[in-house]
Parts: sequence; structure tokens; C-alpha cells
Amino acid sequence: MARIFSIMSGKGGVGKSTLAASLARYFAGRGMRTVLIDGDIGLRCADLMLDVQDRVVYDLGDVKEQLCPTEQALIRPTGVENLFLLAAPQMMRPSDIKAKEMNKLIAQLSADHDIILLDAPAGIGRGLKNLLGADSTPVIVATPDDVSLRDAEKTAMLLQEKGEMHPLLVLNRVNRKLIKKGEMLPPDRIAMSLDMPLTGVIEESPAVYRALLQHKCALECEDEKIRQAIENIASRLLGADTPLPVYKTPARRFFRFGGVKA
Ligand SMILES: Nc1ncnc2c1ncn2[C@@H]1O[C@H](COP(=O)(O)OP(=O)(O)O)[C@@H](O)[C@H]1O
Ligand SMILES: [Mg+2]
Repeated sequence: MARIFSIMSGKGGVGKSTLAASLARYFAGRGMRTVLIDGDIGLRCADLMLDVQDRVVYDLGDVKEQLCPTEQALIRPTGVENLFLLAAPQMMRPSDIKAKEMNKLIAQLSADHDIILLDAPAGIGRGLKNLLGADSTPVIVATPDDVSLRDAEKTAMLLQEKGEMHPLLVLNRVNRKLIKKGEMLPPDRIAMSLDMPLTGVIEESPAVYRALLQHKCALECEDEKIRQAIENIASRLLGADTPLPVYKTPARRFFRFGGVKA
């Protein structure tokens, strides 16, 4: 049986695909047979991060329509053992794939893989609800601003309405200098305000975008801190008790989050 993680967010552009592709590469690099499902239907992007954009023949939509066996749609990035990508369809809407179909696919993949990562679409629409049918651990990615945090909170509420799903939180684009100046809330306080377990912190780094420009994922970027942050998230997802980074804050705090002084 595979471990299944759904990487999601309320707001788009917060770093879900960056994290999902990097985790997939990391797990595969550790010898775990890993499938990354690009669930961002209509907005395919994981193929670019794994540099297989020229090799997408079949995708999740073709598997759903039974136009090819699932095996045939799994793309193996060159030179990376154990990594398989199921690309997102370009011409479908997120609501076109039903929860039942997604469950069936994940159950099938689960039989002969160790890790399944779903890069979910942003928001809390029908598409997300359908894709989350499977028994997965939800990981919400957010950036430390009120817009993203409010959306993260809404997504967590939706998950809780669906049942026993308790999302984990990853904060991305964290800025140490802004935290030190008191302009950004530190990650532990954000997690406390949202009442979600903090599973990782990724700092803002130009190396992440530079990697994307070269069709690489953040795990391959030149910033050692970013690579380490991703490795730590991966190990926490597998149950390791890796310590979280500590951030210095000013003595007097003027933070506000959601209108409440934190
Ligand atoms: N920690 C980071 N530092 C700098 N840029 C980042 C960071 N994380 C993500 N980005 C950039 O933000 C953009 C959106 O990331 P992406 O993973 O596509 O978001 P999402 O999948 O949530 O829409 C990309 O250009 C990516 O390179
Ligand atoms: Mg994305």
C-alpha cells in the first residue's frame, strides 16, 4: 500500500506544484516508487518542472476515458529512477473527473507504488472535492499573507466537513528578514492561529524561480537551504521528528493576523 499525499491550497500560485514535484523527486531519489499525479486539470505544469513536457502522450484524462492502460500514461523523467508522472489533461475541466474514478485510479497505483503525490488544483471547488476522494493526507501550502492564510483556513474547513481529514501546513516564501523586522508573522504563530500542524517552512529564494526557468524543480535548485527544507518536509511526512526552523522576532510585536493581534 502506498502513502498518499494531496498537496493543495486555497489560493493559486503559492508553491503547490513546486513542492509536489520536489517531494516526488526526493522520494524517488530515496528509492521509493513514486507517482506524481498532476491534478491541476486544464493547467498542466508538473511536466515542465520534471522536464518531460515533450514526452506527454497520454494523460490523466486518457486514463479516465480508458483510452490507454494507466501504465502507458506514466512518464519516467530521464535519468531519475522510480519516478512516474501522470500529466494533467489540458482540455478538461476539474469537475470532469469524478471522486469514484480518482479513488479507483489511486487504488490501482497504490498496489505497486510506495508514494502517490497529488498536485491538486487551487481553491475549494468541485474539482478539488472530487480529486480528494482517496484516502490521502492533505498538505495545505500557504504563503504568510492574510489572503493566502484566509484561503488556507477555508480549505481546511472544507476538508474537515468532508470527514476525518486533518490537513498539515507548509508555509512557503517565508522571509527571515521581514520576520525579524516584525513585518511578517513567524511560521509557528501562523500555524497556531490556523490550528494546523506545521510540517514545513520554505523560505523565499530567487533560486526556486531560476530552477523553474530551467525546467527543474526546487529540489534541484542551487540554494542549499531550499533543498534542505524540502528534504525535511519529506522526512516529516514519513513520520520523522525533524526540528522546524526557529525565527527571531522583534521584542515588541505589532503583528496582526485576520484582524486579531497575534
Ligand atoms: N520559495 C519560493 N521562492 C521563490 N519563488 C517561489 C517559491 N516557491 C514558489 N515560487 C515561484 O512561485 C511561482 C508559483 O509556484 P507554483 O508551484 O507554480 O504554485 P502553485 O502550484 O501553487 O500555483 C513559480 O514561479 C515558482 O517558481
Ligand atoms: Mg500548480
